[in-house]
Amino acid sequence: MSKILVIHGPNLNLLGTRETGVYGKTTIDEINEELRGEAKKRNVEIEITQSNHEGEIVDIIGKAKSGGVGSILINPAAYTHTSVAIRDAIAACEIPTVEAHLSNIYSREEFRHTSLIAPVVRGQVTGFGKTSYILGLEAAIGLLKRKNG
Ligand code: DQA
Repeated sequence: MSKILVIHGPNLNLLGTRETGVYGKTTIDEINEELRGEAKKRNVEIEITQSNHEGEIVDIIGKAKSGGVGSILINPAAYTHTSVAIRDAIAACEIPTVEAHLSNIYSREEFRHTSLIAPVVRGQVTGFGKTSYILGLEAAIGLLKRKNG
């Protein structure tokens, strides 16, 4: 059975205490618990990972296909705006991918208005706090089921 891979990028391990006015007080563990609950309800397998390291994220994406991943939900965090390597990894893996952000990146500083990732994903959810992940998971499940069906 193919599964959904959730990737949290740098500093998202600090959710709950990090810039709570922007990102809210929900911790990454609480978000992951919700995602796991949602996936269980929808009868899909889910694997969740977090990394602060660009190369590690590239490696995780590179191994996803052989690991049975059918769709990816990623919040690349700060790498959204800088990482050609993560963009190329997503393009290379040919796994349908959804990009999610807690904050609305287009209403913040100008350097956040550009996502290098957006052109290689199926779609983006941005600005709904933890609900961005839930909506993103829903989209990723849709992509998975379409692929398997
Ligand atoms: C973020 C937005 C990014 O600009 C920022 O660097 C993050 C989090 C978000 O979820 O809103 O770390 O991806």
